[in-house]
Amino acid sequence: MFAWTIVQLVALFWIIYYVWRKLLASRRSTLPQPPGPYGLPLLGYMPFLGKRPHVTLKKLAEKYGEIFQLQIGGQQTVVLGSIETIREAYSKDVFAGRPTTPSIKAFLESGPSRFAMRTANAKWKFLRKVSFKALSLVASSQNSRLEAVVDEAAEGLEAELTAYNGQPFDPQRNIFDCVASVIGSALFGSDFNSKDELLKPVLQLPDRLASFFAVGNLLDTLPFGSVIMRKKIKDFLEAITPVNQVTEKYIGEHVVHCEQEDDIRDVADALAMVAKQTPLDLKQQIGLNDDAIRCSATDLFGAGFATTMETVRWAVNLLAVSPDVQAKARLELEQVCGDQPVQLTDRSSIPYNEAMLIEILRFSSLAPLGLPHSTMDDTTLHGYFIPKNTTILANFYGHHRNAKLFPDPESFKPERFLTNDGSLNMDATQLVIPFSVGKRRCVGENLARQELALIIGRLLQKFQIFQDPNNPVDVHDAYPGFNRRPIKTPIIFRKIVQ
Ligand code: HEM
Repeated sequence: MFAWTIVQLVALFWIIYYVWRKLLASRRSTLPQPPGPYGLPLLGYMPFLGKRPHVTLKKLAEKYGEIFQLQIGGQQTVVLGSIETIREAYSKDVFAGRPTTPSIKAFLESGPSRFAMRTANAKWKFLRKVSFKALSLVASSQNSRLEAVVDEAAEGLEAELTAYNGQPFDPQRNIFDCVASVIGSALFGSDFNSKDELLKPVLQLPDRLASFFAVGNLLDTLPFGSVIMRKKIKDFLEAITPVNQVTEKYIGEHVVHCEQEDDIRDVADALAMVAKQTPLDLKQQIGLNDDAIRCSATDLFGAGFATTMETVRWAVNLLAVSPDVQAKARLELEQVCGDQPVQLTDRSSIPYNEAMLIEILRFSSLAPLGLPHSTMDDTTLHGYFIPKNTTILANFYGHHRNAKLFPDPESFKPERFLTNDGSLNMDATQLVIPFSVGKRRCVGENLARQELALIIGRLLQKFQIFQDPNNPVDVHDAYPGFNRRPIKTPIIFRKIVQ
């Protein structure tokens, strides 16, 4: 009886708060707020989001339009469903904030840099700029270092896949090693060891991250979620500890190098050098210390590793169910590269392979809702008023499944990005935006595109990829959570004899 009264009181309080907030917003602007569905007191629309919120939000967009709003727990949320609204909003500073949900707060407190989850303040701006510059050391098409790094990792992968001798197996662990080795060496240099025992628990990390940051998760939506779900936060912090430990070990070695030498060998050196050379008064003004600058390398590893690994896994699954796509891509590689491994400079001569890569990114839509943004001030979009501190979600998945832009969107068809004469249709490729757009666009986009082109190209040159007839691959489903991770399935790799 007492508990019921409490529930009624809380619900009443919530309704008063909700109406008061609406009234307050209507005083600040005469413009309407976006339309959208009602939810329950306190929980808002959270109970109806389902396991795949991006799918539910796509359906809601069909009813309410390309900009609509809903309440998710305590967060007033606006969802952008078209490329025009996403481009327009994300090009503006006012949309470049990040919400301060309990999951994001916990993550920010777990390390000194964490700029991917910081709101758009001076610290974020500085760390984003220096990371972008540091990454351009490895991710430029003139740079053959990435090719050398991929060569070595791909050789290891080739040996491991060959050892299965055409038997079906789940290649997740092997792809993990290969991508860890590529991104680790790109960031931390040739001493990076992807077989480091410390890295083992990192294999489980994508699953943990997916549920921790998922839209509508209980921690962020339940009232007093961070008090009720302390164990969830503790488990998450424990899960990310190995990434910090591995990368801090390498960062420490780079600091020593940069104290003695002036040459920059990799991304970690570039960041250590920025920390060394930035004037103290500037650091104080922004509120940064050397550790935060150097540890951006940890953030880059964290942000760049699972995303690239899962995309390679999507590629393998999609190719396994598309023998015709494989054959066309392989033939083009043979004609352009002969028996040499594909290089970055070949990319302009292999339009079918490039179209295939874009189709993999569209189809997988790995970050279906991107990372959440937040409005830094009251603002407007397409004639709607959007108050300060509104959470903004861009439905990249919904956009990539828009049948008007991508006919038959559930089919895997690289041809949709080619012109009649077989060259790349640049206008069509610009419609695929898996790395987001605007002020907070992914800083690792170039590196990711290059890594993917090289790793997938080399796999195709060496192996024919098949699904196991006893365990067909399902590419139309993905594990629920913050990222669309492909379903784990045994795959057959048959070595091509040259
Ligand atoms: C296939 C691979 C990848 C995908 C699909 C991807 C996708 C994304 C998306 C959707 C965002 C959110 C952008 C926004 O908030 O609007 C993002 C942010 C970010 N990504 Fe990536 N990413 C990938 C690879 C990488 C790599 C390789 C790195 C680094 C080496 C990286 C580093 C980052 C960072 C640091 C941010 C935060 C940017 C900011 O908040 O200003 N990502 N990425």
